[in-house]
Amino acid sequence: MPVHRLTVLYYFGGMTLFFFLVQVMTGIMLMLYYRPSADQAFESVEFLMTTVQFGWLIRSLHSWSANLMVFFAFVHLVTVYFTKSYRKPREITWITGCVLLFIAMAFGFSGYLLPWNQLAFFATKVGTDIAGAVPLVGEWTLRFLRGGDRVTGGTLSRFYGWHVAILPAISAVVLGIHLLLVQIQGMSVPPHLQEEADRRRPMRFFPNFALRDLFGWLLALGVLVAIAALFPWELGEKADPFAPAYKDIRPEWYFMFMFETLKLVPGGEIAGIEYEAVPILLFALGGLLLVLVPFLDRGVNRTGRSPIFTWVGVVALVYMVGLTAWGYRSLAPVYAVLATALVVAVLGLGTRRAPRRDRS
Ligand code: HEM
Repeated sequence: MPVHRLTVLYYFGGMTLFFFLVQVMTGIMLMLYYRPSADQAFESVEFLMTTVQFGWLIRSLHSWSANLMVFFAFVHLVTVYFTKSYRKPREITWITGCVLLFIAMAFGFSGYLLPWNQLAFFATKVGTDIAGAVPLVGEWTLRFLRGGDRVTGGTLSRFYGWHVAILPAISAVVLGIHLLLVQIQGMSVPPHLQEEADRRRPMRFFPNFALRDLFGWLLALGVLVAIAALFPWELGEKADPFAPAYKDIRPEWYFMFMFETLKLVPGGEIAGIEYEAVPILLFALGGLLLVLVPFLDRGVNRTGRSPIFTWVGVVALVYMVGLTAWGYRSLAPVYAVLATALVVAVLGLGTRRAPRRDRS
């Protein structure tokens, strides 16, 4: 492992992996009680939370860990983006990473509906409606997602299938490739820190880095259990498809910037295409460009910088965090980003004491 003042960034992928493993373990436990049908799903979760010993804790761990996993996947993406780790020969690592992020979001979207409560039901209705606005393929996508024209028990079974079988199977393969490539290729060094890394003695992955990783995981487990126990995940009221639309419909926080963008677009259509389709297609294009970043950032050599990509990243990040804060009418998302940057800066200071190569 290269040692320099940003070595701390190498822990974020492992942290994402930790929360992924928590998801697998707690998810299997939840499956033992959960029943994926419109007339039993809510009741089975209620039973789990009120009667099954520690059932409430397992559900709370699963929900909190899901959010932390997506959060760390974003942090990991942002750090590998700004340190240009996607460059040759790590193109496939980057692409599999993007696929993992999309899968993580799909896990979140499909899992949101499973408790079959009011918020889940109406948020899924709105979320799948958005897919329907896409020209040409929208109608088909909407029916494919819902398993029909409306959100029904059929949608619930379908989402359950994605959540516990299809997405886990795909993620096992993609994650396997991602981790294998990281092991084969080793860690990259940010271009501007190459000299510093050359001056310092590298760290062995095993046991030195692996033990530090494990220490981080233990800390994360403590924090996760504390949050899950102190703030148990709520269940709300059972979904009522005939009730008037739930007044406080909101998606999960990582869809918020897209949701808020769509709200800014006025209703109406031109030549049979809804105005909403424009931002939806732009987001799809943004996702595609993200995947292609390693092939677009070719203008400089391996050791060079690419300020255009850095600035595009900064603008995208400010936009996403800004709209999320706007959506919640709260500065919490801004503080979350600042706190993460502060932790990285403080831990980075520790590396200044790392042994130098010339003294060894
Ligand atoms: C479930 C999601 C993910 C897991 C579990 C995961 C796991 C890991 C791990 C354990 C590492 C090695 C340590 C590190 O660099 O932090 C790594 C490296 C890497 N990941 Fe991920 N990752 C995920 C998502 C992503 C995403 C969303 C991207 C970007 C699109 C990405 C791109 C990369 C790259 C380029 C490297 C190599 C970094 C380097 O060589 O410096 N990963 N990942």
